[in-house]
Amino acid sequence: MLQNINKGMRLGSINGLRFKQLKLVILAFFILFLLWKWEKGTYYDSGILQPDPLVLTNPANSKFVDQHTSSEEDFPNADPLPQSVVKVEKQVTGAPRPLTMVGYSVDVADEKELPPPEKKECNYRNGKWVSDNRKPLYSGFGCKQWLSESWSCRLTQRTDFAYEKFRWQPEACEMPEFEASQFLRRMQDKTIAYVGDSLGRQMFQSMMCMVTGGKQRPDVEDVGAEYGFVLALGAKRPDGWAYRFPSTNTTILYHWSSTLCDLEPLNPSDHATSYAMHLDRPPAFLKNNLHRFHVLILNTGHHWNRGKLRANKWEMYLGGAPNNNWNIAVIWKAKNFTIHSVIKWLDAQLPHHPQLKVFYRSISPRHFFNGDWNTGGRCDNTNPLAKGSGIRLNHSEDTDAEGAVRGTRIRLLDVTALSRLRDEGHISRYSIMATPGVQDCLHWCLPGVPDTWNEILAAQL
Ligand SMILES: *[C@@H]1O[C@H](CO)[C@@H](O)[C@H](O)[C@H]1NC(C)=O
Ligand SMILES: *[C@@H]1O[C@H](CO)[C@@H](O)[C@H](O)[C@H]1NC(C)=O
Ligand SMILES: *[C@@H]1O[C@H](CO)[C@@H](O)[C@H](O)[C@H]1NC(C)=O
Repeated sequence: MLQNINKGMRLGSINGLRFKQLKLVILAFFILFLLWKWEKGTYYDSGILQPDPLVLTNPANSKFVDQHTSSEEDFPNADPLPQSVVKVEKQVTGAPRPLTMVGYSVDVADEKELPPPEKKECNYRNGKWVSDNRKPLYSGFGCKQWLSESWSCRLTQRTDFAYEKFRWQPEACEMPEFEASQFLRRMQDKTIAYVGDSLGRQMFQSMMCMVTGGKQRPDVEDVGAEYGFVLALGAKRPDGWAYRFPSTNTTILYHWSSTLCDLEPLNPSDHATSYAMHLDRPPAFLKNNLHRFHVLILNTGHHWNRGKLRANKWEMYLGGAPNNNWNIAVIWKAKNFTIHSVIKWLDAQLPHHPQLKVFYRSISPRHFFNGDWNTGGRCDNTNPLAKGSGIRLNHSEDTDAEGAVRGTRIRLLDVTALSRLRDEGHISRYSIMATPGVQDCLHWCLPGVPDTWNEILAAQL
């Protein structure tokens, strides 16, 4: 009898557990269903509605794999770039480059190799991270109007936030403190445009949060339509965002162009068309809007891999025809070629746009340790600056970018080495949308490292 009661209780509690699990499963299915509906878009019906002409001329739309399938932003496929950089470095220096580039950091105090830096123009590449209790410049809880939820690590399970409390101290000059209202006054009647991949979008969101202090700003106007940023048919999101601060008539915008190439559908009437990815043509968006910009920040890098090109049905074109130049077909050479092309084109445009300052932001480092993004690579160190806090280099770690801007009026925002020291600042295992076990060691927590990129930018405006 007693045994029976026990048994009954056990069964009851097991059933209770099952019921709880069942509820969770149902809830999960419901959320998945909502996401699926949302991704499909409500108006998607290409058979009835005419495709938006914008989609055809400027097809950098969200249906591309670059804008990711399941998470807010994209994971890279296997990234051949760092390896290629290593190869080039090897050829140049004869010495192998450490696989984890953090090893390149030096303690500034001990480093005697370089002559004292010149005084006249600040070199922001070299310096050190110092802890600063006045950071961050905004709260990850507060900046909901501009900041993607999946990038705001305060909204995740993460419990360590030491990474928010650092500033970059350049070696040879003071970094001016970023002051939002003063910055806006300097940017009176100006337009700041970020064009690039999801890391460019992070920098854009960071700037929006910095300028607003992470506060709600109902007065800020959404002027996306002025730039053609409308939700295209079948798209998950527009291919850009633009906001205007009415008090100073300052516009800050972001346009998604992950490879800085012009994309052209090969068969505009076919919804599943492949695209010509013109390595030698700047994105149409740049061509069409350059005259409206005062500050332009470009970046590319992590999308240059075969998997991504194939998934997006992008085919490399050169001189208006499929590329058969084997010297360029290698993907890291295609990337280098494109960076050089777009910068050369911009440099040639500058005389016609005297109002314009152009920056190319060097590549943002990835920090997958003990594997790559799809083989269990991790970046869950929570101890800031464990491998050094300072950088002193006489060259950029992004050799493609450095080579491309050399001899031009385009300025390099050289954030690669300083960001390399911040492996603890990624979204890591707190990625709320990624597959379990997959860490995001590419994108950064915000507030975080991209704020520093913007401070370095603002210091030069
Ligand atoms: C706002 O700034 C733009 C330049 O970015 C200028 O063309 C426009 O006239 C300005 N608007 C006003 C109302 O001053
Ligand atoms: C990158 O491209 C430029 C211009 O096409 C070229 O001069 C340079 O040698 C290339 N760099 C590498 C590492 O291939
Ligand atoms: C950097 O310094 C090393 C030796 O210290 C030298 O071999 C190299 O040419 C320098 N590179 C540049 C770009 O000045």
